Amino acid sequence: MKRIAIAASSLGIGLMLTVALAGLHPASAQQSSSRASLSPAQLAGKKLFLQRCSICHLPPLNVPQDPDPKPYGPLLSGFVRGAEKESRARNIILKGTSRMPGFQYGLQSKQIDALMEYLKIL
Ligand code: HEC
Repeated sequence: MKRIAIAASSLGIGLMLTVALAGLHPASAQQSSSRASLSPAQLAGKKLFLQRCSICHLPPLNVPQDPDPKPYGPLLSGFVRGAEKESRARNIILKGTSRMPGFQYGLQSKQIDALMEYLKIL
């Protein structure tokens, strides 16, 4: 009786592990491949974007009453394409607007460069 119980519970643990690993695998594979495809500067820019910009430039999470929540600022996907848009974006990031803070004193110029590298592939 005891043996059966032990066998059953180890089978249970085995199954749980298999399910957990199967569930984890695609996500971790996806993450590592998307990481690998970013250059070091783009990855640094992505981190800065998530820390400093996403609060206003990505749709808010966890708004159960709103199925399609909008960000406070514009979504920037596809925005920074071409030299003109790039210099416009850099200027806004440095100086800010009435609704967006400027980052000229909050970020170093190499951090702004990294952000620009990421914005260009958004
Ligand atoms: C407090 C919210 C807020 C934060 C934080 C913020 N932004 Fe903005 N951003 C805005 C708003 C709002 C606009 C739209 C311009 C306006 O209405 O003044 C904007 C505009 C922009 C634009 C120009 C888009 C256009 O149409 O010209 C860029 C580029 C931009 N933000 C990049 C960034 C980056 C990069 C960061 C992080 C370093 C950031 N923003 C942080 C709110 C924010």
